[in-house]
Amino acid sequence: MATLLIRNIGLLVQTEKRRRSVVKGEDIRQLPTVSEAFLLIENDRIAAFGPMERCPERADTVLDATGRMVFPSWCDAHTHLVFAAPRDEEFVDRIRGLLYEEIAQRGGGILNSARRLRQMSEEALLESAWQRLCEVIAQGTGAIEIKSGYGLSVESELKMLRVIRRLKVLSPIPIKATFLGAHAVPEEYRTRRNDYIDLVIHQMLPRVAEEGLAEYCDVFCDRGFFTPAETERILQAAWKYGLKPRIHANELANSGGVQVGVANGALSVDHLECVGPEEIALLRDSATLPTLLPGCAFFLGIPYAPAREMLNAGLPVVLASDYNPGSAPSGRMSFVVSLACIQMKMLPEEAINAATLNGARALELEADYGSIAVGKKANLFITRPMTSVAQVPYFFGTDPVETVILNGRVWKKP
Ligand code: NIG
Ligand code: FE
Repeated sequence: MATLLIRNIGLLVQTEKRRRSVVKGEDIRQLPTVSEAFLLIENDRIAAFGPMERCPERADTVLDATGRMVFPSWCDAHTHLVFAAPRDEEFVDRIRGLLYEEIAQRGGGILNSARRLRQMSEEALLESAWQRLCEVIAQGTGAIEIKSGYGLSVESELKMLRVIRRLKVLSPIPIKATFLGAHAVPEEYRTRRNDYIDLVIHQMLPRVAEEGLAEYCDVFCDRGFFTPAETERILQAAWKYGLKPRIHANELANSGGVQVGVANGALSVDHLECVGPEEIALLRDSATLPTLLPGCAFFLGIPYAPAREMLNAGLPVVLASDYNPGSAPSGRMSFVVSLACIQMKMLPEEAINAATLNGARALELEADYGSIAVGKKANLFITRPMTSVAQVPYFFGTDPVETVILNGRVWKKP
C-alpha cells in the first residue's frame, strides 16, 4: 500500500465527517475547514485527516503545506472542451458591436465550429482536447463533463463522442459524456428543421446508445435554437435509450427551458441568465439542479444569472465553466468562482461549495468526489501560500493551484 501524507496544512477546506450529496439553504453558506491540519492518503483514497496533533509519524511520501490550503478538486459539470478551433474572429466582431445571436443567424457561432470540426480528423481532435484537458487539470479540475454538439451529423457527432471516449481512457480524472446533437440546426437542414430533429431521434440517439458513447442528453433550448416542444421530443426519446437529460436553458431568453427540463426529469438545467421568480419556485420544488456558468455571461457581456435569488430560495446552486470556443473560452474554475463572487454576489463559501460538492452531484459523482472525506478519491490541490478561502476569488488573476494530487499521487503536466 502506498501512503502520502500532507502535513502542516494551514487550512484544509471542504472537510466532511458526515456525507452530504448536495448543499443548499443554510448549509451552502458553511464551508467546513480544519486549520493546522494533516491529510493522509492510502493508495488513491483519503484515509484520514484532522488537526496536526493527531498527525501520523510516517508515510511513503510526505509533503509539507505550511502556509497553504488544501481543497478538493473542482468538479466542472458543463464543458464543450472537444472543439476544432478558437473563434476569435467572432470575438472581435462582437467587440465591434455584433451580438452572439446575430453571428449565429449569419451561419457563424456553433455552425462555424461544426464546419471546422467536420473537416478535422479524430486524431487531431483528440490531441487538441487532450491539451485542454491537461490545462484544466493543472488549474485544479478533478472531475469533468464534456459534450458533443459541434458535429451536427451522424458521423461527426459520433466522431466527437469517440474522442470523448478515448479521453476517458487517457484521463486521470473521471469524465462524463453528454450527447448534444441538438445544439443547433445545421445549415443543410435550415429549411427542414423537423427532419433534423428526426435525425437526432432516429439516427443519432440509437447509435450513441448502441455504442455506449454518452451518459446524458443535452438540448440547447433557447430562442433561435430549439423550442420547448422540440426539446421535449428529444428528451423523451433520450430517456428511452437510458440517457438522462441535462439541458441548456434560459441563456438568451426566458423561453420555457426550465419548465421543460423540470417536467422531463433533467438532472440539471444550465445557464439560467434569463429566469424569474416562477422558474426559481419551480426549481425549488424539483430535483433538478440549477447550474450557473458566469464565464459565459462575462465573455458575452450578457446579464448574469440571479444567483442570490436562487440561493435565498434555497436552491443547490452549481457552478461550472462552460469551456467552449464561442461563449466561454476558459475552463479555469477558480476564475468562475471569482466571477460568482464579484458579479453574482455569491459569498466565497457559497461559490466554493457550488464548484466542488454541488458540482460533483451534477456529475453524479458525489460519492467519490467533491469533498475531503474519508473514503473519497484523493483528487485535490494544494494552493500557493494563502491564508483564507476568500483569497481564492479575491486574487482573480492568479491561479491558486500550486500542486495537483490525483488518485493519491502528485500529478505533473505531461
Ligand atoms: O453553453 N449555449 C449554447 N452552447 C454553448 C455555446 C456554444 C458555442 O457558441 O460554441 C454555451 O454557451
Ligand atoms: Fe454550454
